[in-house]
Amino acid sequence: MMVMGIETSCDETSVALVEVSEAGRVVIWDQLIASQIKEHRPFGGIVPEIATRQHLLHLEKLTQEILKRQKIEWSNLSGIGVTRGPGLASSLLIGLSFAKGLAMATCLPWIGVNHLEGHIFSAFLADGKMPDEPHIALLVSGGHTLLTHVEINPYRYTVLGSTRDDAAGEAFDKAAQMLGLGYPGGPEIEALAKNGNPKVIHFPRAMLDHSHFDASSSYHLSFSFSGLKTALKVYLAEHPAARVEPKLKADIAASFQEAVVDVLVQKSKRACMQTGAKLLTISGGVSCNQRLRETCSIMAEKNNIRLLAAPKALTTDNAAMIAFVSAARLKAGQRGEWNDDIDPNLKLSSFSKM
Ligand code: KG4
Ligand code: ZN
Repeated sequence: MMVMGIETSCDETSVALVEVSEAGRVVIWDQLIASQIKEHRPFGGIVPEIATRQHLLHLEKLTQEILKRQKIEWSNLSGIGVTRGPGLASSLLIGLSFAKGLAMATCLPWIGVNHLEGHIFSAFLADGKMPDEPHIALLVSGGHTLLTHVEINPYRYTVLGSTRDDAAGEAFDKAAQMLGLGYPGGPEIEALAKNGNPKVIHFPRAMLDHSHFDASSSYHLSFSFSGLKTALKVYLAEHPAARVEPKLKADIAASFQEAVVDVLVQKSKRACMQTGAKLLTISGGVSCNQRLRETCSIMAEKNNIRLLAAPKALTTDNAAMIAFVSAARLKAGQRGEWNDDIDPNLKLSSFSKM
C-alpha cells in the first residue's frame, strides 16, 4: 500500500510517499521538506504564527510537486496520513484541514496519527521494515525526551520516563544561546565540541546519582535538564573569558554535550535492563548527534543489545515517518473520522495487530 504522509506539527512542512508491502517491507518513494529554520532564526526559536503561514504557503505546492516528480496519480494511492498531534495547535490545524480536504476530494481513506509514534517508527526506516520485536525507544527532540517500552502485535506503548522540565534538544538550544551560538543549537554545540575536551568541566547528571539508583523510584528513568542549564549559566558568569576564549568555549560545549549524552545513554541502558528488551532505538532531532550515537553503540554492544538509530536525514521532523505510521494503522483497519480534531498534547496510544 502506498500512502501520502503530511507533517506540519512544528516548523517543517513535509510531504512523502511511502510504500509498505504485505510482507512489511517499507520503501520511501520520495519526500519533500520545506524547512523554516531561516524564518525563525532571527528570533532564536519558533514563532507559531510564522510557522502557520509558512505551512499555508508551501503545503499545496509540495503536494503537487511530489506527485508530478513520481508520476503518481491520486488513484495510485491507498491512503493519506497526517500528524494530528502533539505539536503547535495552529501548525497542526493547517495539516489536518488540508488532509481532510484531500481525502474528501479524492475519496481516499485517511488517518490522523501521533507525531511521537512517527519518530519511534522512524528508526525502523533504517531497516526498511515494520517494527517486529519489542524494544525500548529513546525519543529525543526539541520538544520531547521519552523512554518508551514498545510491545508488538498488539502495539502497546508504556512510557517509562520523560523529562520533568526541558527536553534534551531544548537544553542544547538554550546552551547554544548562552554561548552565543546560532539556532538550532544542537548541531552548533556538536560542531564546537569536536575541538573540545569533555572532561574539563563536570556538569551535573541529574537523577543519575546512586541515591536514585532504585528501580522503584520515580527518578529511575526520568530526565531533568534545567539544573544542567543553570550550571552552565553559573559557570559562564564565573568565567567571563569563556565566551571569547575559543579553546575554553569548545571545552564547555564538549563537557555540556557529554553530560546530556551520559544521562540519555545510562537511562536507556536501565530501561533495557528493567524490561529485558534486546533492541534499543534512538530517534528525534538530538539522535543526529554523533557522540550520542557512538556512546549508545558502545553501551549496546557491551550489554548485548541491538541498536537501531533513525537515518540521520530522518531524525528531524519529516513526513516519511508519518506516512509509515499511517500505513501501519490503515493496514490495521483504522480510519480517520470527519470530526477528528487536532490534539496539541496527544499521548501515545496502543493499536491492534496488523
Ligand atoms: O525532532 P526535532 O526536529 O524537533 C521536534 O520534533 O521537537 O528536533 C529538533 C531538535 C533541536 O532542539 C536541535 O537543537 C536538536 O534537535 N538537534 C541536535 C542535533 N541536531 C538537531 N541536538 C544535538 N546534536 C545534534 N547534532
Ligand atoms: Zn518531532
